[in-house]
Amino acid sequence: MIKACIFDLDGVIVDTAKYHFIAWRKLANELGFDFTEKENEKLKGVSRMGSLNLILEWGGIKMEEDKKVEWATKKNEWYKEHILDMGEEEILPGVRQFLNELKAKNIQYALGSASKNAAAVMNKIGLTEEFVTIIDGTKTTKGKPDPQVFQMGAEAMGVQAEECIVFEDAAKGVQAALNGNFYAVGVGSPESLGAAHMVISGFEGLTFDQVLQGIQ
Ligand code: BG6
Ligand code: MG
Repeated sequence: MIKACIFDLDGVIVDTAKYHFIAWRKLANELGFDFTEKENEKLKGVSRMGSLNLILEWGGIKMEEDKKVEWATKKNEWYKEHILDMGEEEILPGVRQFLNELKAKNIQYALGSASKNAAAVMNKIGLTEEFVTIIDGTKTTKGKPDPQVFQMGAEAMGVQAEECIVFEDAAKGVQAALNGNFYAVGVGSPESLGAAHMVISGFEGLTFDQVLQGIQ
């Protein structure tokens, strides 16, 4: 019996994944190299410093810790320029309707994101109040694929993992959900999210019943 849902933010509720990519690419370019959209898949769901370490590895660059913090801060400033003017209109198609359906069916929902900007983005798009809790990168100590972020969300809602569906656009996020015994719905392509119980291309036209059937 499903009692709750947990949503990742970047790439699930809003299309901020593309802004992370643009900002990281700018950083790589300033350091004299580039990386592809395919490599970017590996950054999804990964913390800011974790992402930086991966990118530096791809560029074959070694860097002192204090320099890393400087570059990570720069990237975050670039990223924040993109989210500055965000509003409700940036909520991805169908998400609002899907949340409304959950509400009508008394299914609780929470946020489970690696981002330290999650609270700011949720405020901008006006969704903060209706989520039971917002678990983000400022609250967790372990990154995806560790299930901690989702476990904290489930605990706040008073539900077990097996009673909860996680929606994720990152392979590492899907893995985190599975590692914690949650149901996982991948949002994106089956190619990278095939491990999930169900993969959807987005929320447009999606009903909760379709999800319940799809995860069986
Ligand atoms: C995740 C994104 O949601 O948050 C990653 O998928 C990002 O791309 C991570 O690196 C951390 O975000 P932030 O906002 O704390 O730098
Ligand atoms: Mg994501």
